[in-house]
Amino acid sequence: VNENNPIGIFDSGLGGLTVLKEIHQLLPNEKLIYLGDTARVPYGTKSQDTICRYSVQNSLYLLKHQVKAIVIACNTASSYSLDWLSSLFQIPVIGVIIPGAKAAINQTKNKKIGIFGTKGTIHSKSYDQALKKLDEKVAISSVACPLLVPLVEEGWIESKITEDIINHYWKELAKEGVDTLILGCTHYPMLKTTISKVVGDKVWLVDSAIETAKAVKEVLKKNSLLNLSSREGAIEIKVTDDPDSFGKLSQKIISFQTNQIEKINLD
Ligand code: DGL
Repeated sequence: VNENNPIGIFDSGLGGLTVLKEIHQLLPNEKLIYLGDTARVPYGTKSQDTICRYSVQNSLYLLKHQVKAIVIACNTASSYSLDWLSSLFQIPVIGVIIPGAKAAINQTKNKKIGIFGTKGTIHSKSYDQALKKLDEKVAISSVACPLLVPLVEEGWIESKITEDIINHYWKELAKEGVDTLILGCTHYPMLKTTISKVVGDKVWLVDSAIETAKAVKEVLKKNSLLNLSSREGAIEIKVTDDPDSFGKLSQKIISFQTNQIEKINLD
């Protein structure tokens, strides 16, 4: 691989486009190839074995396109399969958990950090481990928010019902007095406005998409893999199920042009 090769990004569906968007904004010259495993979404409710198998298949697909690095743009897949993928492949593999944890540690003043995530991410304790490694004195409270992904996918971003549901999940963390809340799922940055409204402006929200983009830049730089061309990099999007519905929703997340969305087969 060399610096002209694309960066491969995968997610269970469209949430990872929040990560793609930040990478493109920070590294506009990089070619990006995104795989949304829409045929098998959601990942947030599935077991570690299943998620590891899916993650390997997704990575092998990206490797066929000669990617120079793989970004796991999914909290659940990062939680369960980052170590496994890193041990299998020679190229850098970057997940979203460690960048999010670092940002939270840098931000908190009272060392009380809250986490919203899918069932899988919360169950895996990946954020707890990453946070404790950085600062063992930090107090962590987490809550699985299984209703938030479907709300985003239905486009219910700022409705009263969404606010009420966020409030229900938040109540548990508010009791703990957290001053920092990790948005531990790719879909949650899309709910940022509504989450802010519920938690108030004294709670810092950590959007792991932005932090992951910074981590990708750092890793590429360290490995002398940054694309130094002055031309804007092309973005290719692949999905494993119907590209039409994905196309409509994806336009809400990324406002820039991509090549056509192509349906592919992983087997
Ligand atoms: N991408 C997943 C995550 O960040 C959320 C959607 C899903 O459950 O597949 O955990």
